[in-house]
Amino acid sequence: MSVKKIAILFSGEGSNLENLIKKLHKKDFNDFTVEVALAITNNPNANGIKRALKFGINPIIIDHRDFKTREEFDKRVVLEINKRGCVLSVLAGFMRILTPIFTQNIKALNIHPSILPLFKGANAIKRSFQSDMKVAGVTVHTVTDELDGGEILAQECFNKEGMDFASFEEKIHKIEHEIYPKTVIDFLKTL
Ligand code: GRF
Repeated sequence: MSVKKIAILFSGEGSNLENLIKKLHKKDFNDFTVEVALAITNNPNANGIKRALKFGINPIIIDHRDFKTREEFDKRVVLEINKRGCVLSVLAGFMRILTPIFTQNIKALNIHPSILPLFKGANAIKRSFQSDMKVAGVTVHTVTDELDGGEILAQECFNKEGMDFASFEEKIHKIEHEIYPKTVIDFLKTL
C-alpha cells in the first residue's frame, strides 16, 4: 500500500481542515493511504491550529508579515511542502493571494463557497446570500494563477429561497464538508 502525502493550508476557523483530517488522515483508499504530512497557516491566531493539534498534527506557522514580498512568502511555503514530499496541497480557507512561485510549482485544490465563476474573491458567502439569485452553492477547483479560477472539479448547488443567513451559512459548510474530502480522494487517485 503506497502513502500519498498531502498538505493542508488554512488561515482561520479550520472547520474544513478538521473535517479533512478526520476523513482522510491515515485512512486507506483501495491502493493508497493518505497522510496529512503538513498543515500550514499564515495566521498565528488561527483557530484551526487547535483543531489540528487534537489529531496530533502540529501546524507550522509561516506568518506572511515576516516576508517583504508575496513571492518570498510563497517560496518558503513551497519549500516546506516539497521538503515533506506532499503530492497535493489542499487549500482550506487559506486567505492569501498566491503568486506563480506557488501556482507553477505546487499542485493544489481550493474550495470556494459560491457557484464559480460567480462571486470570486473575499466575502463570497455574504455576497452570494445577498444576491437576488435563487440558488447558491460550493465549488472545488484546481489552483492556478487566476484567483478562484482553475478547472472546476466539483460543484453543488441548493435553492436558497426563504433561508436566513445563519441557515444559509450552515448549509454551505455542510456541503463543503461533504464534497471536499471526496474530491480530494478522486483527485489523488489520478496522481
Ligand atoms: C470556507 O467557506 C471555504 O469555502 C472558504 O473559506 C472558508 C473556510 O472555512 N475558502 P473554515 O476555516 O474551513 O471553517
